[in-house]
Amino acid sequence: MARRLNIAFSSIDLPKSGAVAFLVGENGKLSPAARRFDSDGRLERAKSIAEFKGKIGASVDVMAPRDHIDRVILVGAGGKEIGEPDWMKIGGAAVAGAGSASSLTLVAETDGAEIDKAAACAIAAGAKLRAYDFDAYKTKDRKVRPALKLVIACSDPAGARKAWKDMEAATDGVILARDLVNEPPNVLGPVEFAGRARQLSKLGVQVEVLDDKAMRKLKMGALLGVAQGSVRPGRMVVMQWKGGKAGKAPVAFVGKGVVFDTGGISIKPAGGMEDMKGDMGGAAAVTGLMHALAARKAKVNAVGIIGLVENMPDGNAQRPGDIVTSMSGQTIEIINTDAEGRLVLADALWYCQNRFKPQAMIDLATLTGAIMVSLGQHYAGLFSNNDELATRLTEAGQATGERVWRMPMGPEYNKMMDSKFADVKNAGERWGGSITAAQFLERFVNNTVWAHLDIAGTAMGSPKNEYSQSWGSGFGVRLLDRLVADNYE
Ligand code: BES
Ligand code: MN
Ligand code: ZN
Repeated sequence: MARRLNIAFSSIDLPKSGAVAFLVGENGKLSPAARRFDSDGRLERAKSIAEFKGKIGASVDVMAPRDHIDRVILVGAGGKEIGEPDWMKIGGAAVAGAGSASSLTLVAETDGAEIDKAAACAIAAGAKLRAYDFDAYKTKDRKVRPALKLVIACSDPAGARKAWKDMEAATDGVILARDLVNEPPNVLGPVEFAGRARQLSKLGVQVEVLDDKAMRKLKMGALLGVAQGSVRPGRMVVMQWKGGKAGKAPVAFVGKGVVFDTGGISIKPAGGMEDMKGDMGGAAAVTGLMHALAARKAKVNAVGIIGLVENMPDGNAQRPGDIVTSMSGQTIEIINTDAEGRLVLADALWYCQNRFKPQAMIDLATLTGAIMVSLGQHYAGLFSNNDELATRLTEAGQATGERVWRMPMGPEYNKMMDSKFADVKNAGERWGGSITAAQFLERFVNNTVWAHLDIAGTAMGSPKNEYSQSWGSGFGVRLLDRLVADNYE
């Protein structure tokens, strides 16, 4: 994290120094506070010279406008119905515009439109996420800047302050997920990742770590088959947050945590292989989500399970042609050792439903390149055996801006995973690759209400925006935090 942000909420008031951000809304007019400030018409002139229309996320900088104010940033907040992701963009744009200022007052007000406490919090979240930068390994170009004091001046500061506690918990969950994804793979192996997850016990999460011996005892042959090619042993982490009624079935989240994916014996081409350090983005999102739920003391029983392995080629690595027996008892013929994520999930999903009997089970995985061909990097692929759960996820995606798009499933696709020698094979043909991957997973969920999110396109290397400049995006944390808040609390 490059820059510390200290966030406070106040009533609408102008500061005597530092930077100030004013919002320009739908009609392109300055807000009342900005007009009061603009006694000499300088902001109006700047706005017209820049042809500024108030587009969300756009901004105009006015330097040394008056007295001891260093700069004014006019930030676009136009648009009829603007939601959480838009407010986040506004917060992010303001922080970016503040430059080296050590304090920034953002006057959360537009001409005509009331800004409620939820919007004020979303502004704060966008600001905090914009300030994130993973530069822990830079010894020369690290931008050392003083902490930024951000004051959000709004109509209901007390309400916003209270609501921010929950939103900050989710934001910190995103930051944890980003850190895990950005961390280099030599530093973050399965054991180290499990150690990071263990730290959630400080927040009241019960954390268990299954080592290879424990997984062998549980007969997790699918996960262990992947792990056997690495000198670093695999781990499975079980996180439980018990914030709901005792005995109420939990909602469960399962994450693919391949700390590095070489492809194994079916080795990947060299170009861009370094990105495969992010193949644990699903596990990172689950860990970040458990952080969020615990930090805001969510009134829900939630389980997070992550399967952590490294997929390496080695004298002891599994081969195409191998047949492994999963915990479910189903045998799997390995066609391609690069289709390893589904093998990890096969045992994690089966273990999850078998032990916890969850009311719903959602997995996240950077599972296929094919989902990027289908959807690009702006939507995650959604696959589900349950229409209600699919709708809930779609709605949470719209609300948070972490959007998902439902893909088809069906018996024709399922058949494509039948194996000549075993119960199922781990790779089908080229066409419909993200769908056949989902069909494979469905064979390990045993009638549980289930959804699978293929986040290969959204978890890492995703397009930058006003509130994310990070390679690892932390995708999924805000989406699922919202899903829980709206449907399971
Ligand atoms: N981790 C990859 C998927 C991936 C690709 C994630 C690019 C992010 C960016 C996964 O393990 C994989 O290799 N999938 C194969 C499956 C195939 C062998 C059936 C793929 O998508 O090519
Ligand atoms: Mn792979
Ligand atoms: Zn993978």
